[in-house]
Amino acid sequence: MNYNWINPEEISFNCFLLMDRWLIRMILNNYLGEQDFDDKLSITLAYNPAVAWYFAHKSPESKASIDKLIAMAPKNLSPNDVRKAEIFVISKLETSVVYAYPNIMDKNCDYIYNWNKNSLFELADFTDKLVLDVGSGTGRLAFAAAEKAKRVYASEPTDMLREYMRDKIKRENIKNIIVVDGTIEQIPYEDNTFDIVMSGHVVGDDYEHEIAELTRVVKNGGYIIDCIGEDNRKRKVDEELLKRGFESFYHVSKSGGDIYRYRKKIIK
Ligand SMILES: C[S@@+](CC[C@H](N)C(=O)[O-])C[C@H]1O[C@@H](n2cnc3c(N)ncnc32)[C@H](O)[C@@H]1O
Repeated sequence: MNYNWINPEEISFNCFLLMDRWLIRMILNNYLGEQDFDDKLSITLAYNPAVAWYFAHKSPESKASIDKLIAMAPKNLSPNDVRKAEIFVISKLETSVVYAYPNIMDKNCDYIYNWNKNSLFELADFTDKLVLDVGSGTGRLAFAAAEKAKRVYASEPTDMLREYMRDKIKRENIKNIIVVDGTIEQIPYEDNTFDIVMSGHVVGDDYEHEIAELTRVVKNGGYIIDCIGEDNRKRKVDEELLKRGFESFYHVSKSGGDIYRYRKKIIK
């Protein structure tokens, strides 16, 4: 699926030099297997040795796949053919590439620019609360919550996005957001720390483990919130979240998408 968040022709292949280990590993684990993509990725890595070197050193677990891809690339391709392969790969990986361009992400991702923060405030009273945002991205939820909360911890595993939020915090002289590294699999806080733990477009790879980890860091009587943005995607309610005791709140976005938000009060 292509979202058209980026114009791949305007993107340098060097953007892959800004990627974090988890993203490189994900690309090499999840995207390989489609002949056309494998062929094009093999060309791009063989003809961009700095990117191939960086990938193999940043994500040593991916080195065998990278070496195999490089070995299968055709020799003596023209710069034009290489650029065509780069554009193909950039386009196919746009949801990852966009993390290297947080400005573009904020400007072009409909789920961010079409979003209204009231859809978060409707889910809980954030006044004076201690809040964790897991997988903050460019900070859609964190910056909104900080308008009311005592303090918001914006946890984000992607370096470019952390730095983007830090720059924005400095520019806007915001005093109550702290940006930290971290993943949903291993939240870097003690048990029962937060009044509200929220996320958007993050939960769903491993419900059992992820919900257990979110629950661990919420105080008794606190909330877990899943608040996606406003996009045009048709989707069904997430039965996995309902099964685990979440309430759902449904509306249709202006662009016709099915938007479900979720909330669970945690009683320990
Ligand atoms: C689609 S973006 C959504 C960003 C933000 N939550 C929002 O809704 O505007 C997904 C975010 O999750 C982050 N992410 C990816 N894997 C993650 C993980 N295992 N744990 C926490 N965050 C993760 C990405 O770096 C990215 O910032």
